[in-house]
Amino acid sequence: MLLIGDFMFKQALIHYFTGTGNTVHVAKQISKQLKENNTSVTIYNIENELMYSLEDYDLHIILFPVYGFGIPYIMVKYLKSLQDVINSKAAIISVGGHTGRLEGDEGQSLSHAYKILTHRGFNVFFTHLVSYPVNFTQILNPPKKEAVDRIFKHSDNIVKNIANKISDEVHQI
Ligand SMILES: Cc1cc2nc3c(=O)[nH]c(=O)nc-3n(C[C@H](O)[C@H](O)[C@H](O)COP(=O)(O)O)c2cc1C
Repeated sequence: MLLIGDFMFKQALIHYFTGTGNTVHVAKQISKQLKENNTSVTIYNIENELMYSLEDYDLHIILFPVYGFGIPYIMVKYLKSLQDVINSKAAIISVGGHTGRLEGDEGQSLSHAYKILTHRGFNVFFTHLVSYPVNFTQILNPPKKEAVDRIFKHSDNIVKNIANKISDEVHQI
């Protein structure tokens, strides 16, 4: 935990895309914890027009589901369209699919997003995969209600931990 007088993020912008709701759930959980850590937070769905000025935020958090071991194309396009920033701090979290038995697989999603954001001038200090109920129903059966409850409980704890690490600016790539 930070000591009094240490640096704290003042304003965070969470940029997210969600297909079926897991990622917006993660955005809300992170927002709740960051606010408890005295950071003010704006949550922004990248499908809408960007109404915010990136320089107004000292922390950017990028959130997206993993699709086919990668970043959803809409998020790739969005990240590439961001204006260049100078050394603004950023964290990336990809949301994979938990089967009830196995965690998701980030594939190249985190390393790809890291590369794009670094090229845009962001200082990416944290990347992490977290897994919520799998929605890839063409390939896998969705987990049963009991497993879904277990996954949410387990992963919500991980997300709380992630938010605290981001607040403490823990370097974890
Ligand atoms: C077409 C498709 C491909 C997917 N590929 C992956 C994958 O490679 N790795 C993984 O962990 N989850 C994969 N998933 C599962 C989702 O990433 C996962 O369920 C996520 O929590 C969904 O988030 P959302 O509700 O915000 O869309 C895939 C889902 C779909 C629909």
